[in-house]
Amino acid sequence: MVIIGGTSGMGFATAQLLLSNGASVAVVGRDRAKAEQAGEALGAAATIGVLDAADETALRRFSDQLPAVDHVVSFAGLQPAVAIGQSTHDDFMAAFDARVWAARNSCAVFEPRMPSDGSFTFCSGVSAVRPRAGRSPGAVATAAVESFCRAMAVELAPIRVNAICPGAVETEVLRRAMGADPDAALARLAASMPVGHVGQPAEIAHAVQFLITNTFTTGITLRVDGGALLT
Ligand SMILES: NC(=O)c1ccc[n+]([C@@H]2O[C@H](COP(=O)([O-])OP(=O)(O)OC[C@H]3O[C@@H](n4cnc5c(N)ncnc54)[C@H](OP(=O)(O)O)[C@@H]3O)[C@@H](O)[C@H]2O)c1
Repeated sequence: MVIIGGTSGMGFATAQLLLSNGASVAVVGRDRAKAEQAGEALGAAATIGVLDAADETALRRFSDQLPAVDHVVSFAGLQPAVAIGQSTHDDFMAAFDARVWAARNSCAVFEPRMPSDGSFTFCSGVSAVRPRAGRSPGAVATAAVESFCRAMAVELAPIRVNAICPGAVETEVLRRAMGADPDAALARLAASMPVGHVGQPAEIAHAVQFLITNTFTTGITLRVDGGALLT
């Protein structure tokens, strides 16, 4: 299995879960030091790759080093902070490249060598349906990748393609976005959630495992958000 974005956060938790189930896992990220640290933490059964998934050539080179690939999961994405009026074509393309073009590259590189019961899982986010002010390029990209998953599910069948749509999940990225007192901000956020807690990376990993293993599931967006959209 290949986990693009498996070097931290939800991708790392997914790698831990899949490895604990006996899978061979390759994790990919852009930052070498982070990838090497993740590799050490995951142990010898994990392979690491250092590349940007928006770079098809680099992804293909990495794929060529792997003996086999049955499932691919990608957590790659970018949420540029910019007001619509000040946004540039580059802002929109950066968000699109990181999530949608990266998904397209995964499809182009890995699909030809996948078994017919293989699968792809791509990460979107609740911004697809509940955007925040000042974050429109990322919102557009999350919505686009959900639509793209349906298109891939039709075109690549019987290979399955699904989207995982996380709500607020407690990773370093979320903590950094929570301001000066992240613990207090996270406690307020938890109190506002129907399930009474902020998501944990292992809860997303569990849902990804479902998407990888459930052979009757394709073309869906699985929202795992603690009921956030109900409030
Ligand atoms: N945390 C949340 O509350 C939340 C909510 C909704 C959606 N999401 C989405 O969920 C995904 C994972 O979030 P997270 O909080 O787990 O963040 P994270 O800890 O930063 O994980 C992102 C992973 O993807 C890698 N990555 C990012 N862009 C890449 C690229 N172009 N090519 C290869 N690897 C790339 C990162 O490593 P490098 O930086 O070294 O490349 C890292 O391993 C993101 O797409 C995020 O937008 C997060």
